[in-house]
Amino acid sequence: MNIIHTQSGDQSARVTAGLLLDALKAKPDLLMGLATGGSAEGVYKEMVSAHRAGQADFSQARTVNLDEYIGCDDEHSYRRFMEDHLFSHVNLPKENITIADRTADPDAEAARLRAFFAENRVDIQLLGLGPNGHVGFNEPADALCPDVHAETLTEATIAANARYFASPDDVPRRAVTMGMGDILKARRIVLIVTGPAKRAALAQLLAGDTVTTQNPGTFLLLHPDVTLVTDLT
Ligand code: F6R
Repeated sequence: MNIIHTQSGDQSARVTAGLLLDALKAKPDLLMGLATGGSAEGVYKEMVSAHRAGQADFSQARTVNLDEYIGCDDEHSYRRFMEDHLFSHVNLPKENITIADRTADPDAEAARLRAFFAENRVDIQLLGLGPNGHVGFNEPADALCPDVHAETLTEATIAANARYFASPDDVPRRAVTMGMGDILKARRIVLIVTGPAKRAALAQLLAGDTVTTQNPGTFLLLHPDVTLVTDLT
C-alpha cells in the first residue's frame, strides 16, 4: 500500500482530488467509482474548483457510486449529495452516471448493478473508511457479500451518519452497496481517511497482518494498488 501522510483533512482532500484528476487527464473516459460522506465532500470541492479553473474535463468521464440508501427521501439520498457536491457543477454527461435508485426494489437494483459490473471495470475507486471499518456499506459481520447487494446498517453506522438527519431515527436502515469483491476488482483504489474516529479501524489496516470481515477495510490489503491518504499518524 502506498501511504501519503498529510497535515490536515483539507490537505488530504486536495491530494486525493489530485490523484483522481491526474487519472482523468491520463484517461478522459475514466470510470470513477465514487463515495459520499464528509471525506468525499472535500475531494469533490477540489475537483469542482479544478473544473472551474479549466483544469478538469469530465465530458467523457463515467461514474458509478458505491452505495445508496433504500427508501430514503430525495433530500438525504446519496444521489442528491452527488448532485449538490459534484454532478451539477461539472460537465459530466448525465447518462454517464450510475447510482442505485433509492425508490426502486433493492433486489432489482442490486441485479441491475451486478450486470453493470459484469460489463464495466472501475478504473479508479475513491473510498472512505467508516469508524467501524465499513467500506461502502459493507458492515462488519461474520461474512461479507462479494457482489452488489442490499445491506442492513449497523447501529454504529446509523449513529455515525445521523449527523445528516434530524435524528438517528430518520436514518434509513437499509442500503444498496457494491460488495467487497466489486471494490477489489477496481484497477486502482484511493482511500481517504481523516479524523480521530477512524484511528482504530485504520490501525488494523496499517498493521497489515490480518484480513477480517469484522473490519471490512482490512480487505484492501488484498489489492495490489491502494493509495491511502491520511492525516492520522
Ligand atoms: C459512503 C461510503 C461510506 C463512507 C464512510 C466514511 O458512500 O461509502 O463508506 O466512505 O462512512 O464517511 P465519512 O467520510 O463521512 O467519514
